[in-house]
Amino acid sequence: MLLRLGKPYLIADEDSSMYACICHAVTEAEVSDTIAAGATTEEEVGEACGAGTGCGSCLDRICALISERHPLHGRTPLRAAG
Ligand code: FES
Repeated sequence: MLLRLGKPYLIADEDSSMYACICHAVTEAEVSDTIAAGATTEEEVGEACGAGTGCGSCLDRICALISERHPLHGRTPLRAAG
């Protein structure tokens, strides 16, 4: 289903799950499931479900979904004192 909201098309499948990755038709729910199954990087998500391996415009959203489960994702690790 395509919904026109005055911006680029918002695309949802029949159960209203938003697509996180248009290039590979991967929903946010599928990306979240992939992360729950153990993917911790954008590369691992891409290897598991294909999301983010096309144009790359969805990588920020994939990163945000990873960060929801792994809050330190994308942050520079602190150096150990010593
Ligand atoms: S929208 Fe995900 S790679 Fe293009």
